[in-house]
Amino acid sequence: MKYYITTPIYYPNSSPHIGTAYTTIAADAMARLRRMKGDDVYFLTGTDENAQKIVRTAENAGVDPHTYVDGIVKRFRELWNLLQISNDDFIRTTENRHVKVVQYIFNRLYEQGDIYKSEYEGWYCTPCETFWTENKLIDRKCPNPDCGREVELLKEESYFFRMSKYQDKLLEHIHSNPDFIQPVSRRNEMIKFIEGGLEDLCVSRTTFQWGIKVPFDPKHVVYVWLDALINYISALGYPDGENYRKYWPAEVHLMGKDIVRFHSVIWPITLMALGIPLPQKVFGHGWFLNRQGGKISKSRGNVQDSFELIQRYGPDPIRYFLLREMQFGMDGTYSEDDLVERLNSDLANDLGNFVSRTLAMVVKYNQGKVPVPGEDAGLEKELKELSCAVKQGAEDKMLACDPAGALEYIWQFVSKCNKYVDETAPWNLAKDPQGKQRLDTVLYTLVEAIRILGILCAPFMPGVPEQLKTLLGTEGLFRDWEQAEQWNIIKPGTVIEKGDPIFPRIDLSVYAEVQSEDVAEKEEQKGEFKEGIQTMQGNIKNLSPELVPFKEEISIEEFAKMDLRVVKVLQAEKVEKADKLLKLEVELGNEIRTIVSGIAQYYTPEDLIGKKVILLANLKPAKLRGIVSQGMILAASHDGELEVLSLSKEMPSGAQVK
Ligand code: ME8
Ligand code: MG
Repeated sequence: MKYYITTPIYYPNSSPHIGTAYTTIAADAMARLRRMKGDDVYFLTGTDENAQKIVRTAENAGVDPHTYVDGIVKRFRELWNLLQISNDDFIRTTENRHVKVVQYIFNRLYEQGDIYKSEYEGWYCTPCETFWTENKLIDRKCPNPDCGREVELLKEESYFFRMSKYQDKLLEHIHSNPDFIQPVSRRNEMIKFIEGGLEDLCVSRTTFQWGIKVPFDPKHVVYVWLDALINYISALGYPDGENYRKYWPAEVHLMGKDIVRFHSVIWPITLMALGIPLPQKVFGHGWFLNRQGGKISKSRGNVQDSFELIQRYGPDPIRYFLLREMQFGMDGTYSEDDLVERLNSDLANDLGNFVSRTLAMVVKYNQGKVPVPGEDAGLEKELKELSCAVKQGAEDKMLACDPAGALEYIWQFVSKCNKYVDETAPWNLAKDPQGKQRLDTVLYTLVEAIRILGILCAPFMPGVPEQLKTLLGTEGLFRDWEQAEQWNIIKPGTVIEKGDPIFPRIDLSVYAEVQSEDVAEKEEQKGEFKEGIQTMQGNIKNLSPELVPFKEEISIEEFAKMDLRVVKVLQAEKVEKADKLLKLEVELGNEIRTIVSGIAQYYTPEDLIGKKVILLANLKPAKLRGIVSQGMILAASHDGELEVLSLSKEMPSGAQVK
């Protein structure tokens, strides 16, 4: 079966952020799953470059729009690469292959009388690239609930698209194809909107020149939304390209709820006017909001650098977090704390530990060889039944564009696997001279469970099969989705490796002070994460009065990796709602850094200002209470006392400590 899936083409007005990444990652997971099912998949993404906002942003940056978008588009491609996005094509609307299709379509619609010339007088929201009539505005601002920004009055000669003519036909299509707009809440909104009456749409502009020229009237450029939507077919080579014939109509156009309206009105009407089939489904997911409840957005600039995040946590955890966090039909909240929490609980603890535990047992109890299994008992049967249900459930959820639902199913299987280890207690079987055959069955079942988890995780976290491949020593085990419900695939005798944990825990010990304050708030946290924090707290209490045990030996090279510097404290203040934290501004040579330090119970801010102290300057930055701390101040501590290290001789800030 063929499967054509698209993401929106994004405005390259600034670097992509995790909200943008969500849609692309979700589409990627859907595409990967279909490929694993053997479907002929075409997955398209790209950039929407002919917008007025691009002209404005480039002007502000003092470069021409071409140079500007080239730079940003490069960032998009880099990000998709880092996130292992498996798109088959990347379309830019400034490419000739797109421009000529838009001009062909504009011409055709004009010739058949669906586009006519008139004058536009009304309002325009540049951030949304949307025309508004005066009566729709709210407080004279853009009525879009996600926007509310200034609108501008336009009065210019324009071409108009006769959308009103297609209103009834469109409604009829929506009513007879319940799946066309999803989820249902969005569908109902759209029906209401269309029933309110469609006006003809202004589809050209004359007050700027950046964009695709109207072929027969080149002082006009084509309205960016009409231009942009056409990407879904221009990329396939409409009207006579081979890919067009093979892949159109799309199975899914995936997007955020902000742009469902364009895809449920302008796009289907354009297709109807051209007499070509409509896509099967337009799906609008929710938004990622920040903790304060605002939409994460490029034009608002409230975004965390996605490259930095990937560097810090790796692509798979970011993919997992975003897909798991956005509940079907709802908005999701993004915060780095929640990301770390999920990483530690779901990935390191639930999945990663299961894999490590299991492989370690095969190494220990069977010299690293996959044993020959005996007869299944009840527990094996249960596990196998669940794997089939989970595989089917996850697949159905993905068909409904619900990756979080799919992952929930898969994690049911992860829990069951952990439970299976506890119930079968292989360590007891190993001690029992009669237990060998049962132990072999259990170990075999466990290795098979890892293989199945590798398949189930593959669409969501493409790095997982990569990692498991080296551990299970066999290639090609994770490619076929159907094999997630088949058992007895791995050959007994296969040699496996214990390897390193596939998802190492994020080590919180450095920030134990901060985390311990959070314990009360995070009561709902799961098992090990919480235990981890409590152990760390325990460790801190146990520091006194005995000496803390010495750490293992390190080489001079390892020590030399630490960049210790003298810094001067310029500013210090208490961090709100955190008893133990001080926020310091320190001078490091001619740089000023922000450091969050857990010393508020020992020092007042005034004690520190002007002091020269020692900073571990190349510690990975970390966010504490919403503040990015760029290093760590050294202090001696013993028996409830703490003293920040300082110098008795005058040294410039920036001097090395070694
Ligand atoms: O609208 N949460 O481009 P755009 C979830 N060029 N998804 C988000 C998000 C967030 N906080 N922020 C952005 C455009 N997105 C047009 C599209 S298509 C023919 C033209 C995602 O750069 C989501 O998919 O503003 C949203 O619909 C899209 O980025 C908007 O990207
Ligand atoms: Mg937008």
